[in-house]
Parts: sequence; structure tokens; C-alpha cells
Amino acid sequence: MRKFVAGNWKMNGSLAANEALLAGLQAVPGVEVALCVPYPYLGQLQRRPVGLELGAQDVSEFDAGAYTGEVSAAMLADFGCRYVIVGHSERRALFGDDDRLVARKALAALSCGVVPIVCVGETLAERDAGQVHAVIARQLAAVGDVLGHEQFGRVVVAYEPVWAIGTGRSATAAQAEEVHAVIRGWLAEQGVRAEAVRIVYGGSVKPDNAAELFAMPNVDGGLIGGASLVADDFMAICRAA
Ligand code: G3P
Repeated sequence: MRKFVAGNWKMNGSLAANEALLAGLQAVPGVEVALCVPYPYLGQLQRRPVGLELGAQDVSEFDAGAYTGEVSAAMLADFGCRYVIVGHSERRALFGDDDRLVARKALAALSCGVVPIVCVGETLAERDAGQVHAVIARQLAAVGDVLGHEQFGRVVVAYEPVWAIGTGRSATAAQAEEVHAVIRGWLAEQGVRAEAVRIVYGGSVKPDNAAELFAMPNVDGGLIGGASLVADDFMAICRAA
């Protein structure tokens, strides 16, 4: 399976800054690279370097209609988005995306041929309470209940421990591998061809830790935040995959 590395720009960028960033990016042989950018820049990103896929960071659960401010999966597909992040912990924590809404957003994406990158992960309090596996299973089950477990073969799962996001404190390779293996096992228990599902890690991935993380047998790539805004760092991470 090709490694998959997606940059999550979050709410960052400008037309000028994006041009400078894009000038430093290029396709990486043997690695699928995607850029998940804020909605207003989907037009500008039509001129991204050849070989880089396009993604968004959220999507409406609704198809079309009187939903002011929403952006539909069909609109993302219109702009050539191959991927969309759903259930990022920042959306769960700050904007009220709960497990069932995340599942409905994943369904909306799939209905328009856009691959959802389904984010799961525990808070530090949940980790300290020994609830990591239960939290991950709950978040995955909610998606499976709406999509149908056989549809997991059509999604990317991103394990993003909340305590590692934006903190500079990545999970260790062993910690990431432990949870990725649990996710793979959970998928297999649902009858999914688990080895075909891409499970990527996110949370303070940097050039100096990417190779060790990506070398883990159940880590199929990364979802990169801050480092995706620095061309050399993001390319170094992609090349480490
Ligand atoms: O979606 C990826 C993001 O949450 C990770 O952010 O800055 O820790 O790489 P960062």
C-alpha cells in the first residue's frame, strides 16, 4: 500500500502565502500527497503542483439547499477534491461535531465520491483514565453504524491523539503503533479487509520524527498540521513516508 500524507492547513493561508508555499511543493514518488485547504483557496489550488491531490477540512452533512454557510460534498467534488477531513478534534471540541454528525458527513462525502479522512483520537484525560481503546471503538462504531462497516474500505482513518495536536509532543512510534494496531484489529472484527484500510497518524509530526512513525507496520502515513505550512518541512515528512 502506498503511504498517504495529507497536509491540513487548518485556518491558515493567504493567496500570496499559498503561492509561496506551493512553489516549494512537488509530488513525491511512491507517496500519495494531499493538501487539505480552507474552502476559499480551492480555486487557487486548481493550479497546485502536478501529482498533489486536493482535499478539504470539513463538509456539510446535507446535499444542497437552504443551509446558509454550508459547503456540500458535491461542491468539493466540483473543485476536484479527492479527500475531505471529517471529525477533526478541533471540530469536535470547538464546533460540536459529535460522533453521529461525523458519520453523516462521511456518508455525504462518499455519496459524491470524496474520500473521508475520518479522525479519531482520545484526550489526555481519556488516555490517563485508560479509555483509549473504548474511545476509538466508540468513534469508529458510530461511523460504521451509518456507513455500514463494509464501507470502511472506502475511507481513510486518521488517529490523532488530541494531546499531541499542536503541542510539539507527538505520540511515540510505539504509542502510535499500539493504537493503529487496535484500529486495524477493530476493523477486522467488523469483517472489513483491514489490511486495505489506510490508517494514518496525526499529532505533531515533524521532519525529525516522521521516519520513525511511518516505519511502524500499522502506520500508513500522516495527517500533518503545522509542518504542512512550511514547504521544506512538509516535503521532508512526505519523503520520510
Ligand atoms: O490534522 C492534523 C493536525 O491535527 C495535526 O496538527 O500541528 O500537531 O501537526 P499538528
